[in-house]
Amino acid sequence: MIETIKNRIEEIVEQACAADTNIFGHDIWTHHILPVIQNAKRLAPRFDADPEIVELAALLHDYASIKDKALYEDHHVHGPIEAEKLLKRFGYPGKKTEAVKDAIATHRASVRVEYRSAEGACLANADAMSHIEHVPSLLYLAYIHHGMGIDEGKTWVKAKLQRSWQKLRKDVQDIVRSNYEAALKLL
Ligand SMILES: [Fe+2]
Ligand SMILES: [Fe+2]
Repeated sequence: MIETIKNRIEEIVEQACAADTNIFGHDIWTHHILPVIQNAKRLAPRFDADPEIVELAALLHDYASIKDKALYEDHHVHGPIEAEKLLKRFGYPGKKTEAVKDAIATHRASVRVEYRSAEGACLANADAMSHIEHVPSLLYLAYIHHGMGIDEGKTWVKAKLQRSWQKLRKDVQDIVRSNYEAALKLL
């Protein structure tokens, strides 16, 4: 049953990524959402996190802002609401739904929050790790989406990478240290 729920939700999120209304471009599916899912599954044992919860939370963590650009600013608030709607629709258990919502609520580096669960910490690390591993996606956001000039975009991407780095637990920093140092050198 869980595989069916995952597949159905995957289809919905991928479709939202492909829609013209998605301001991040279709590539966010392959260049952000899928890498965050992979990282979340990879990090789950280190964080003693439930792999099923982190996978669903990773799949849905940015869904609100992809679906509706007006929800971007507070997508850590709208994300759990959107996640609940979908999970409920497919009959996912209530207690597990709360765990997915909690993890989404605490995933952002720019919004300081205390992690409420191992799954929340795991997702936040997986998300930040993906930013560091996919610098071209951040450059795209700066130059194409935000329409920034060269220096402004460079400063913005650097600050975003530094925030992501700060969010990583020490042992996760070690996994992406070489990417991080190379990116900072380039910028
Ligand atoms: Fe996000
Ligand atoms: Fe994200």
